[in-house]
Amino acid sequence: MSHKRRILTGITTSGTPHLGNYVGAIRPAIAASHRPDAESFFFLADYHALIKTGDPARVQQSTLEIAASWLACGLDPDKVFFYRQSDIPEIPELTWLLTCVTAKGLLNRAHAYKAAVDQNSANGEDPDAGISAGLYMYPVLMAADILIFNAHEVPVGRDQVQHIEMARDIAQRFNHIYAQRLILSQTPPFTLPEARIEESVATLPGTDGRKMSKSYGNTIPLWLPADELRKAILGIVTDSRAPGEAKDPDGSNIFAIYQAFATADETAAMRQAYAEGIGWGDAKQKLFERIDAELANPRERYRGLIANPQSIEDRLCQGADKACKRSKDLIEKLRWVVGISAVNSSSSMPQSMGPSDTPDPATSRGAAQIKSYRETNGKFHFKLLDAQGDAVFTSCGFDSPKDAAQMMDVLVSEGDQLTGDNWALVRSTSAGSIEWQVNSDRIKIALAAIKQARLAKERAKSN
Ligand code: TRP
Repeated sequence: MSHKRRILTGITTSGTPHLGNYVGAIRPAIAASHRPDAESFFFLADYHALIKTGDPARVQQSTLEIAASWLACGLDPDKVFFYRQSDIPEIPELTWLLTCVTAKGLLNRAHAYKAAVDQNSANGEDPDAGISAGLYMYPVLMAADILIFNAHEVPVGRDQVQHIEMARDIAQRFNHIYAQRLILSQTPPFTLPEARIEESVATLPGTDGRKMSKSYGNTIPLWLPADELRKAILGIVTDSRAPGEAKDPDGSNIFAIYQAFATADETAAMRQAYAEGIGWGDAKQKLFERIDAELANPRERYRGLIANPQSIEDRLCQGADKACKRSKDLIEKLRWVVGISAVNSSSSMPQSMGPSDTPDPATSRGAAQIKSYRETNGKFHFKLLDAQGDAVFTSCGFDSPKDAAQMMDVLVSEGDQLTGDNWALVRSTSAGSIEWQVNSDRIKIALAAIKQARLAKERAKSN
């Protein structure tokens, strides 16, 4: 796997993209995809859409519109992973593996589910009336989206933060339960994802002042023609202050939306204009002009794209091929990790996953190894090199090579057995008691590889 930061986000394909999606998800994610140290994953969450709607035509149309929107906003599918969730069969498969380690109580506490239950109770109905198991399982499917590519960062709106926390919980649980097998198959444990919220633009108010959201019916669609965009902006609610009266920018929806599109200087100037009593009509006109300036060109591109759905379908298929290489690789290992493998295969580790003794010149990856050496002060040390050749562990100094060799053996034979918090290895030697902190995954993976290689050698000898 590459060493870049993996940034991943999805948009549910149940609606027409609106300004809130643009500001909260599309724009920051595309900006982040230009980071040279990052690898970006953008996807159309159509399985999630099925939780929200039973209208097939809407799911399909929304998928087209959202794909075209990302492309129109400057997404380069050659530089990122751009795919449709349902094109990656490993996502539902991982969903099940994760479901089996997810505490039901965790899902009971999900905001969306709890809100639906509270609503039912308030109406005097059965608590689960009308609630699908899909809604209940939503966080697990989302965890699979994120974990299948081991994303580090997930740009989302504030309302999704709990889902990312749940993904972390679920990942941690899986890592814990299967720690041993993950090491043996040299599968890195799941990366624990972090939510990333753009502080200034986390949630955009809608036309009624509540969060812009399809469920409130207060959205402004992203690709309205200019005249309709102006009309929609004129419809945003304001207070009744007259022109000339000073206005509070921090309580104003118009200002909040303006700020999401404007530079710091433009925002400061608008703040000043509020203090000087700008009329709501003028403020709305300025807001329209600012948004239109940013969207006019992408809007043209969007029109062109939406008129040619075949080209979008082709790009999604290419994106799926590219993403599937990663997801297939991981799921193959995870199947073995959880014990789903051919009944006649080795219960220790599939051949293809084991450590290799022959270095691969193409990637300069080799087998993990332990090297002993003597420092200028006369002490004997050893260090552990992982398959990349990086030193991941360096021992303290020993008086004799024999002491060092003994400790090396202890480390190799027992180091990979330590799981969870119990990663310290304590041994007494003639030199006193030594505590090893074997607390990095890279150390454990290298140790497991060396142990396997030694076992293989012994087996070869005895045959
Ligand atoms: N639940 C997200 C939303 O409604 C969409 C989504 C699905 C998502 N899977 C994801 C976002 C994975 C980030 C990562 O906004």
